[in-house]
Amino acid sequence: MRLADKVTIITGAAHGMGEAMARLFAREGAHVFVADVLDEEGEAVAAAIRADGGHAEYLHLDVSREDDWASAIGIVVGRHGRLDVLVNNAGISGAVPDRLDVAHFDRMMAVNARGTFLGVKYAVTEMQRTGGGSIVNFSSISGLIGQPFVHMGYNAAKAGIHILSKSAAVQYGRDGIRVNSVHPGLMPPMRSSVTSADPAVREQTIAAIPLGRAGRADEAAYAALFLASDEASYVTGAEIVVDGGFTAA
Ligand SMILES: NC(=O)c1ccc[n+]([C@@H]2O[C@H](COP(=O)([O-])OP(=O)(O)OC[C@H]3O[C@@H](n4cnc5c(N)ncnc54)[C@H](O)[C@@H]3O)[C@@H](O)[C@H]2O)c1
Repeated sequence: MRLADKVTIITGAAHGMGEAMARLFAREGAHVFVADVLDEEGEAVAAAIRADGGHAEYLHLDVSREDDWASAIGIVVGRHGRLDVLVNNAGISGAVPDRLDVAHFDRMMAVNARGTFLGVKYAVTEMQRTGGGSIVNFSSISGLIGQPFVHMGYNAAKAGIHILSKSAAVQYGRDGIRVNSVHPGLMPPMRSSVTSADPAVREQTIAAIPLGRAGRADEAAYAALFLASDEASYVTGAEIVVDGGFTAA
């Protein structure tokens, strides 16, 4: 198994790509903490993993709150003595109609950017203590290119996650901590997305994707699985783009 006994936190794991990763990582032997603010859905994901014979527990964690991170890490380390893998996946969408809304810019920063920073902060402290680990941060193609229908705050937050990941890789490499980013393209719409859930917008975007279709949640999950696993032992400060060739065109 590719993640045998790895103690893992996946944020935003009650739905979407986070849920796909929780199920995949558990099948690969990880002990998965399904972290989210959606308690009922998150508990259900953890229960489904256990019913399939995997190891999973639900953890309430609002990634934008430092006190939530402190208690979540305390629970994980208290139960297992260590944290091997953190996937900073939780996020809210920038695909909203009012692309100049200032409050939305602040929300993008609070959840997507600050949430990722806080995760890195609390994970590196534990990983330094135990000799290393792997952190996988979910950015987006929105962190690499400009887009017509996305709030600039989302682009700014996702670009921030991209370079934050490289900086963390540089600063904590000597501690055996690897930090990489995943950049999905057009995937099933996020719960919080409005404009990218519009069939007309999706059709227009798909027309520009070399593979000619949207991606599936498990296709991003497999990229994260590689980065989380020891197969990627010499990979840090890198990015994997999972976009069907959109940004290559
Ligand atoms: N869907 C896409 O097209 C797409 C494309 C590129 C990147 N991404 C990124 O991939 C990641 C996963 O996206 P998804 O499509 O699975 O989204 P999703 O909306 O399906 O799932 C996101 C999860 O994050 C949780 N979440 C939101 N705010 C939170 C908070 N403050 N604390 C903890 N959990 C919180 C939600 O409850 C939800 O379960 C996000 O970071 C997103 O920005 C998505």
